[in-house]
Amino acid sequence: MTDFEIVKLEEKHLESTAELEALCFAHPWTSEGLKTLVREGGVGFAAVEKENGRVISYAGMVMAADMADITDVATHPDCRRQGLSRAVMERILGYAKEQGMTSVALDVRVSNSGAIALYEGLGFEIAGKRPRFYRTPPEDAYVMIKQL
Ligand SMILES: CC(C)(COP(=O)(O)OP(=O)(O)OC[C@H]1O[C@@H](n2cnc3c(N)ncnc32)[C@H](O)[C@@H]1OP(=O)(O)O)[C@@H](O)C(=O)NCCC(=O)NCCS
Repeated sequence: MTDFEIVKLEEKHLESTAELEALCFAHPWTSEGLKTLVREGGVGFAAVEKENGRVISYAGMVMAADMADITDVATHPDCRRQGLSRAVMERILGYAKEQGMTSVALDVRVSNSGAIALYEGLGFEIAGKRPRFYRTPPEDAYVMIKQL
């Protein structure tokens, strides 16, 4: 893997982030959707290759009152299991705490054992289930919460 740095997501990263989304999800965020996220109070952090600025891992978050929600987490298929999502999530959780958030929640497919292991390793706990929350394919979601 090439050298990377973790940066706050800016508009210049959004096209590359949308390409990553398209590789990872059946219903990806588009660069327009991501633009709305970063312009309207959301925040993202990304692992970016130093050589070319390509986003290889990222996480997005929205904040309301003192609670934050993780909107998405993804790592490029060629760069997985190298600690990128853990590093990006640690950064975004640190940012949430700095901003005065007291808890962070996220949804995850009940079958997504890799992501669940990632979140449990970061201190998230399963707090409930949302029946048929996902489509393509239809599946329940676990709601996971971490107190900050
Ligand atoms: C889930 C995902 C984001 C993990 O990204 P990653 O950069 O590979 O994760 P990391 O390398 O930081 O993994 C950190 C820890 O999470 C756990 N983990 C991550 N992927 C795992 C997998 N496929 N199986 C088991 N555990 C896994 C492990 O505990 C890992 O630590 P270890 O490698 O020391 O054992 C990535 O596989 C992905 O983009 N998947 C497709 C999109 C997705 O499902 N996103 C989550 C939506 S809620």
